[in-house]
Amino acid sequence: MKFHVQTWGCQMNDHDGEKLSGLLSAEGFEAVDSVDEADLVLLNTCSIREKAVHKVYSELGRLREEKQRRPLMVGVTGCLAQQEKAALFKRAPHVDFVLGTMALKQLPRLVAEVQAGKARVMDTTEYPDNHLFPPTVTRRRDTAKALVTITEGCNHACTYCIVPTTRGTERHRPCEDVLAEVRSLVAGGYREVELLGQNVNSYAGGCTFGDLLERVSEVEGLEWLRFTTSHPMNFTKELARVLVTNPKVVPFLHLPLQSGSDKVLKRMLREYTVAEYLERLGYLGEGRSRMTLSTDFIVGFPGETDEDFEDTLRVLDEVAFDGSFSFIYSPRPGTPALRLKDDLPMATKSERLRRLQRRQAVLTQASNERFLGREIPVRIETHGPTEHGWWLAHSSEWKTIHLAVGPGRELPFGELVQARITQASPHFLGAELV
Ligand code: SAH
Ligand code: SF4
Ligand code: F3S
Repeated sequence: MKFHVQTWGCQMNDHDGEKLSGLLSAEGFEAVDSVDEADLVLLNTCSIREKAVHKVYSELGRLREEKQRRPLMVGVTGCLAQQEKAALFKRAPHVDFVLGTMALKQLPRLVAEVQAGKARVMDTTEYPDNHLFPPTVTRRRDTAKALVTITEGCNHACTYCIVPTTRGTERHRPCEDVLAEVRSLVAGGYREVELLGQNVNSYAGGCTFGDLLERVSEVEGLEWLRFTTSHPMNFTKELARVLVTNPKVVPFLHLPLQSGSDKVLKRMLREYTVAEYLERLGYLGEGRSRMTLSTDFIVGFPGETDEDFEDTLRVLDEVAFDGSFSFIYSPRPGTPALRLKDDLPMATKSERLRRLQRRQAVLTQASNERFLGREIPVRIETHGPTEHGWWLAHSSEWKTIHLAVGPGRELPFGELVQARITQASPHFLGAELV
């Protein structure tokens, strides 16, 4: 049996895709790169915004046609599966099974049941030990950086967000488990690890998140340690200290702000004011000047006035984020924000998004220009040059690097090389090998 996993969404979902692949490989199934070659297709879905859900249903539509032509098993996993449960079969009757985000280990059983002739097989149980997935089973994609789950679920209740529904409440992996996995990854050749959770800094697997970073950073041979993602209210002074003092923890922080208006933040139930957010950034002290900061924004949240939006632009400028991800508010099923009056015209929301993104592009360009002329270590992320001739790499600040290398030269995948930055655009840094 040949299988193909198509994953949407965040790093957590990416990594779940690696776990699901591992489970199927352990059953003797063979991974293939395209739907055309596959007997089993897993759609590992995201439902953070309506657009993400559309993508899934449009892919499901394509697979329905494919299924009319040949035998094909279709399974839906990930956040949309957890959210929709049996309703998915109603909307897409050709789906063979639905597997929830907290039932990963049940995948082989579900596939076997479908093979045995059962229809509409489903498991969306919230197994309390889902986060204790055996790392030896995981079948990692060929990336320079290894993903490691430390926390699953979220105990916050932002009024717009589907994640507490699709990922459940927080469960933490014991610190020793995390350490053992990182040690074996480094023994296997990885030099960079990213710790994952919906909210890593509420980590409580036997030590604090700051402690966990310190302990993981002591693993011999590990070079760079990163994490995603953080809630501002759980960003402590202790964590800030580790961030600015530990040489292996990369100088990069993604701290979602969402809005620069206290009124909007309150309706979002973000649990902080703009002043409190800024106070937390202040914990970084003078170390902040060495760090790259990124954030998330939602524009057009119900009731967001012109004034509220101007406040967001003001905070964007004040912090001068090096980068940000911004989205138009998307109403999600069952979330409390649905009860708020959402009467802003879409044209207004789109215009706000455009203004914010234009402003961010200017700030990102300025942030990138600060790298011009510097010599920095960058990690090689590809096995060869792209068609344009350059190699892809990342800096510790997670800047995308296009590295020019003389013809015929081979670079070591996953390793650090020294690069001189020669070009800055809003999307990448051009560099040459030193
Ligand atoms: N746990 C992370 C967020 C994960 S979702 C955190 O709290 O920071 C990633 C981003 O998607 C969020 O930061 C938010 O900006 C955006 N997002 C979440 N729900 C959304 C919605 N309903 N509409 C638009 N954007 C949303
Ligand atoms: Fe969603 Fe808020 Fe939890 Fe982030 S902190 S996952 S935005 S509920
Ligand atoms: Fe999407 Fe679920 Fe991640 S909704 S962003 S895949 S946690």
